[in-house]
Amino acid sequence: MPSPTQLAQKISKSPTIAMNDKAKELAAEGHAVIGLAGGEPDFDTPAHIVDAAVKAIRDGETRYAAPSKGIQPLLEAIAQKLERDNALRVNPSSDIIVTPGGKLALFLALKALVDPGDEVLIPAPYWVSYPSITTMVGGVPVTVETSSADNYRLRLDQLREHTSDRTKVIIINSPCNPTGHMISSEEIEAIATLALENDLYIISDEIYAKLNFDGRPAVSLSSLPDIADRVIVVDGVSKAYAMTGWRLGWLAGPSSFMSVAGMFNSQTATAAATFTQHAAVAALTGPQDCVEEMRQSYEERRDFMVQAFNGIENMSCPDIEGAFYAFPKVDETSKSSEEVANIILEESLVVGVPGNAFGVTKDAHIRFSFAEDFNKLKEAVERIRAIADKLA
Ligand SMILES: Cc1ncc(COP(=O)(O)O)c(C=O)c1O
Repeated sequence: MPSPTQLAQKISKSPTIAMNDKAKELAAEGHAVIGLAGGEPDFDTPAHIVDAAVKAIRDGETRYAAPSKGIQPLLEAIAQKLERDNALRVNPSSDIIVTPGGKLALFLALKALVDPGDEVLIPAPYWVSYPSITTMVGGVPVTVETSSADNYRLRLDQLREHTSDRTKVIIINSPCNPTGHMISSEEIEAIATLALENDLYIISDEIYAKLNFDGRPAVSLSSLPDIADRVIVVDGVSKAYAMTGWRLGWLAGPSSFMSVAGMFNSQTATAAATFTQHAAVAALTGPQDCVEEMRQSYEERRDFMVQAFNGIENMSCPDIEGAFYAFPKVDETSKSSEEVANIILEESLVVGVPGNAFGVTKDAHIRFSFAEDFNKLKEAVERIRAIADKLA
């Protein structure tokens, strides 16, 4: 019998899904599980966006989208957003590809950039999908591990140490899943220097950019004139507009890469769903107070989570600058993050994702989403507090 591709052996099931499966098993047995392993807003999609989709369906917008790279009003809305938020001027007709979700946008960006054996620098803690997608396109993921003790700072000397003549791309995610870290002006300078020294491309994953805290907006690498032509922006409506199930993302960057990514998009997805694209136009061009309300709510929950975890003996939770995840760690422990996550699941019925899933090798971190009901968050933290001595 023929066997699946050799690449398949290098890719493991998402640890987030594995933890969720385990939690579902416990819930099916009747246990009161609190699931904080996922990564999606607990809000409903705002009504005016839903209305735009319903209207589009009723108007017959149910055929293949044309052009396959995205309907013109959406390409224009994305171009306006990039000009407004990133100070980046792009040609909507040649520099943007709309995809069914930001994840596919990332896949297409890497597929357009990476030849087999090319290396991709991935700062850790990283979003779980970066190494897998890199491997799926034939690239080699190279992890650059940062630490909470150093405020997850990316340093130029460390980046240089991990760069070789096969390095082609660096992936930057700011605000970061799982840490919430936002790149500082020093880090921006380091990344720009590295990219220019080594002729690298930068994939800037900005999916959480609208969810930033303390009045400090996220700065996009694409806003730097010296490197703008090396930056491919990956973004989408999933997180900012509570639209995870709609599957709508995009990539934007140099037209030579966009034409390749567009070809791969049309040969795989064909196009994002037509009425979803109309909904995304309503999201990007309609009132933005819904985004601000959700952001404020995440900020309140962030305040609670940071304070609550820091109040548990032997646990610490650095400040969170954006996104909606807490990434606390057990300070003094001989246990791995997987062991800690399993104890928390089994003893307190709270589901988090162990830090090793995000490329953390040194400390016992666990990621908990706080895009959840406040009462559930309070209950989860209380349960963890009650078993904290078992984590040491
Ligand atoms: C860092 C990061 N980038 C991209 C995505 C992709 O989001 P989507 O495919 O829903 O647009 C996610 C989703 O969890 C994410 O956490």
